[in-house]
Formats: sequence, structure tokens, C-alpha cells
Amino acid sequence: MSETTPLQLAGKHVLLGLSGGIACYKSAELIRLLTKAGATVQVVMTAAAEQFITAVTLQALSGRAVVTSQWDAREPNNMAHINLGREADVMLIAPASADFIAKLAQGRADELLSLTALARPLDRCPLLVAPAMNREMWAHPATQRNVATLRADGALILGPDAGDQACGEVGDGRMLEAADLLEEVIAFFQPKLLAGRKLLITAGPTFEPIDPVRGITNLSSGKMGFAIARAAREAGAEVTLVAGPVHLPTPRGVRRIDVRTALQMHEAVLPLATQHEIFVATAAVADWRPATLNEHKIKKDGKKTSPTFELTENPDILAAVAALPDKPFCVGFAAESQDLLKHAREKLLRKKVPLIVGNLGPATFGRDDNALLLVDEQGQRELPHSDKLSLARELVQEIARRLAKP
Ligand code: C5P
Repeated sequence: MSETTPLQLAGKHVLLGLSGGIACYKSAELIRLLTKAGATVQVVMTAAAEQFITAVTLQALSGRAVVTSQWDAREPNNMAHINLGREADVMLIAPASADFIAKLAQGRADELLSLTALARPLDRCPLLVAPAMNREMWAHPATQRNVATLRADGALILGPDAGDQACGEVGDGRMLEAADLLEEVIAFFQPKLLAGRKLLITAGPTFEPIDPVRGITNLSSGKMGFAIARAAREAGAEVTLVAGPVHLPTPRGVRRIDVRTALQMHEAVLPLATQHEIFVATAAVADWRPATLNEHKIKKDGKKTSPTFELTENPDILAAVAALPDKPFCVGFAAESQDLLKHAREKLLRKKVPLIVGNLGPATFGRDDNALLLVDEQGQRELPHSDKLSLARELVQEIARRLAKP
């Protein structure tokens, strides 16, 4: 997240439970990230977790005394298991061992952490679970049965990841990295305005090769499109992101298809378009490409004559999707250098789409902030200057509102 992004968890109180597992070391980093994002974190540890990391470390990182025993007499009413769940906005178990998941599934309560999970008000303190275990333990039918039970009871299961395991084996069962868990906790608090919807989005520039080493491209960084992909996923949508050449991390839970040229983007988008209910064309697609591709690098010939290129027009991906009989709800972007409203309105008609989002290209390309102008048949609305993730969430709200209309 960028420096301009507001604290994503300001005012949130996270009850972080650690059960026993080598992934406990990742929870130390997670506490740092959660607190940096504005949350307060109360740590509860099982005796097994204390074998892997000390309460001293976690107290120092969270700035709060860690609770490890239901018999801890510091609580005036001596009911830590009740108080902890009443104060929290969410309970996150990370790492959740196979044994602890089994306990949660059975509703056992023989130590403080499971007791607290059982005693928490279900409607006010939801449960997030980040499993961490050996791949055989994860794949075991007993664990899978227990995880299914937790899901049915309303818990959200985060991960696990696949990859190298501490035991030397490779497979499913690694706990998500701290940064991934942070993204999931932030997503969890976003309203699910697009739950069950499928959204397709293009982002970034395209690169139109002249020869094997050179090409025509533009200054689009892809940040706005990636922020919209993230915001849509946070809102519960199933998101497919078709990205031009950019070096941005894929937002969690988003399916990404990488392309280079406008033709490749067109080829990737068109067959997918009708499988989605929403299409957002954020990409700064090159309007033209060199008509021919030189097989080898064009060399200076020593005669001071510059090469000339014939250009040919690229297909308009947005207009092509908007012309499909079974088209999704289409949102176009207009990156202009002046007369935003005029150009946006003109694009609305030319591309035959219900919504155009205008922004000033030179003022936003590569930056972490932006300002948007939403233009539709009814009128226009300004989304004032802000960080791109906040703007993306507002745009998602606008799209959800339009889809909700009968
Ligand atoms: O045609 P123009 O570039 O002015 O329109 C911009 C909008 O159209 C953006 O939403 C962009 O993603 C989309 N577009 C496209 N295919 C092109 C050119 C633009 O999808 N070849």
C-alpha cells in the first residue's frame, strides 16, 4: 500500500490467537502490519504456541499484555474468555494448527483460546482462521471435514498457501504470509456490494513491438486498474484481471492474465467478456501498432536517414465488448490532458457504454493518487482527489448501485 493510502484498519480491534506451529514466527510480523494499518491487537496464545515464540516478543509488538491462561487473575472479573470476545471486531487464529481446528470444529473449550472462540458473540465478532500445517495433515479427510464444519459455522478460512514447508516437504498447508493476511483482514471489513458477481478488468499499458527490442508504449502504470481489481474482490466479486506489461503484485484472490500487445489483450478479453457481468476497461491500450514487425533490430545505417514506420489501428476492445449481444455492464476510462468532461461525454456515445470514468492522464499516470469524473446519461459526478484504492472502492459502489437497479 502506498504512503497516501489512509490507515485501513483505523478503529478496528483484532483479537489474534496463536496456536502451536512453526508459522508463529510470521504472526510477529503480522502484529506489526496490523498495528501499522491502525488496528489495536490483543494477542492470546496457547501453551503450544508458547513453545514457538515468546509472549514477551508479542507483547512488545502489540503494546498489550499477552493472555495465555484462563486463570489469569489480572482481569477484575476473572473472565478473560468473555471480555476478549466482547471487545474485538474480529477474531483471527493465525496460525491455526490441525489440532486447534479440530477443537474449534467440536466446540471444545479446555484452554483460553478455544474457550474465547466459543464464548465470542457470533454476530459481532466473526472468526477468521489461517491454517498452518504439514501437507498430509491438511489433506487428511479429518482436517478437511473439520474445515468444512468451521465454514458451515460461519468462519472464513484464509489460505493455506502451497509451497516449501518447514518439514522439508512441498505442498498445501503453509500459512499465508503476514502481508497476505493483512490484505485479507482489510478485505474482510469491506461491504460485500458485489458478492457473487463476476468482473473482468483490463489494466496497464500495452506494448506494440517495432523490432525485437523496441516498441511503442505509454506511461500508464496499471495502478488504478489494479486498485479497482482489488476493490472489486474486496467487495466479494470474482475478478479476472487482464494486465499489460506492468510490475505490480496481483491483488489477493484475483485471477490475472498477462498480455503485452493490444491484439493479445483483445484476444484474451473477448471470449471472457460474456462470462462476466461487469467489464471495466482501465487499460491505456495503444491506438496504433507498427504495421510490420522487423524480425531483427533496426540498425543505424550510417547515412543519417531515420527509419519510418507505417502504423495500423488496433481493435477497440471496449467498443467490441459493448457491441456484443450478451454484453456485460461496461465501464470505460478516458485519460485526457484537457477538456475532460467533453471528451468523456463524447466517448460515452462513441463507445456506447453506460459509464465513462474520466481522469487527467499526465496528472495521474504512475502516481498513487487521482481524481475521477464519472459521466453517464444522467449527468456527472466528481470523485475528488484521493488515493487510488479509496477511489476504486467508491467506483465499485457506483457500479454496484447501477447493477442493483431493476
Ligand atoms: O478510444 P480511447 O482510447 O479514447 O478510449 C479509452 C477507453 O477505451 C478506455 O476505457 C480504454 O481501456 C478503452 N480502449 C480499448 N481498446 C482500445 C482503445 C481504448 O478498450 N483499442
